[in-house]
Amino acid sequence: SQSQRVNHDLITAHVGEVGGLMRALNALQEHDGYIDAANVPKLAKAFNITKAEVKGVISFYDDFTRAPKGKHVIRICQAEACQAVGSRALTAAALEKLGIGLGETTPDGRVTVEAVYCLGLCASGPAAMVDGELKGRVTAGLFDAFAEDEA
Ligand code: FES
Repeated sequence: SQSQRVNHDLITAHVGEVGGLMRALNALQEHDGYIDAANVPKLAKAFNITKAEVKGVISFYDDFTRAPKGKHVIRICQAEACQAVGSRALTAAALEKLGIGLGETTPDGRVTVEAVYCLGLCASGPAAMVDGELKGRVTAGLFDAFAEDEA
């Protein structure tokens, strides 16, 4: 397919470069929004390493996602200041409403909930980022709209 051809080029473009595997992974992540498992054997072959090594690198770096993200991305701060004002309970409430685990996407592909470590809003926690927008003093009510079908 068109997208697979593009991915092939994204991979081979970085063979022989210092840090080539990371560059190729970044390029794939940027292009597809995630690292499709179908790329793992291609990466292994291109960089002459094992598939396990490729997977190890992908899972070591939080920046790489292994599944497409939802239409909406909610990132809830899990760092200390926010934890002190209830971010854990807030996170649990959000996940409960959406029926998913942290780092997961609803089966309909609408919402992804991720952990983030400090958004610089420590004085007005719990803090979250919803579709790139910062939110302070977040309450569980914020997630209601996302738990409904029309979100
Ligand atoms: Fe949550 Fe800083 S600790 S925004």
